[in-house]
Amino acid sequence: MEVVIAPAGDLARLAAASIEALLTEHPRSVLGLATGSSPLKVYDELARRHKDGLSFAHARAFMLDEYVGLPADHPERYRNVIEREIASRVDFAPGAVQGPDGNAEDLERACADYEAAIAATGGVDLQLLGIGTDGHIAFNEPGSSLASRTRIKTLTRQTREDNARFFGGAVGDVPRHCLTQGLATIMSAKHLVLLATGRAKAEAVHQLVEGPISAMWPATIMQMHPHATVLVDDAAASRLQLADYYRQTYAEKPDWQGL
Ligand code: GLP
Repeated sequence: MEVVIAPAGDLARLAAASIEALLTEHPRSVLGLATGSSPLKVYDELARRHKDGLSFAHARAFMLDEYVGLPADHPERYRNVIEREIASRVDFAPGAVQGPDGNAEDLERACADYEAAIAATGGVDLQLLGIGTDGHIAFNEPGSSLASRTRIKTLTRQTREDNARFFGGAVGDVPRHCLTQGLATIMSAKHLVLLATGRAKAEAVHQLVEGPISAMWPATIMQMHPHATVLVDDAAASRLQLADYYRQTYAEKPDWQGL
């Protein structure tokens, strides 16, 4: 696991540069897109690079998760968030961006179909991730099976409170259920790039990087991934025991290596 500690703008540029390098070398790459506020600067940076010629025309993308039961036109439905924040700002082909269907009649079937759709592409090449204050990735809340695949989950009170800001501050308006890629689904991606900023994420980031692997902090499963990059600002890094070592390692990293 590589930890990079830098200002938020630099982190977004690093993540975007990694995606640009991937798409330039392999235009048919499969991207994993995250919601939440953490990747928004990355999406701004990708939209800017698209104006400078970066193309997504042959790429495909899969979303991490979706609320269950939000009306199709609800602005916080993740499908709409991804459309607004990135898909509509670049040149993905029609149908190239997919997400789990939180309004399906048969939710179990929708989850199995989603797993099959990801597998049919050969899998995600680069997965963007944020992290919840309770250590969840996608919507894999504490207690999630470390071997889980896409399925329905119940959101914790903490996550619903954290996400209430997207629903006018009303916790009661945040859905109680979601469909989410499982931890094993996420672990199948070839490169994981997680972004976290702000002091509220410091404990989760400490557990993710330095804690014991445990379903209590689901993101800790990333320690088992052969290519995981954790991009954090000073505040999110403030509880890392080996912060000085990570800073030194990154400062001395050879230029050719990339993320
Ligand atoms: C939601 C999303 C996660 C995201 C998390 C953190 O729960 N399902 O994918 O990582 O929020 O969000 P933020 O980046 O806004 O802190």
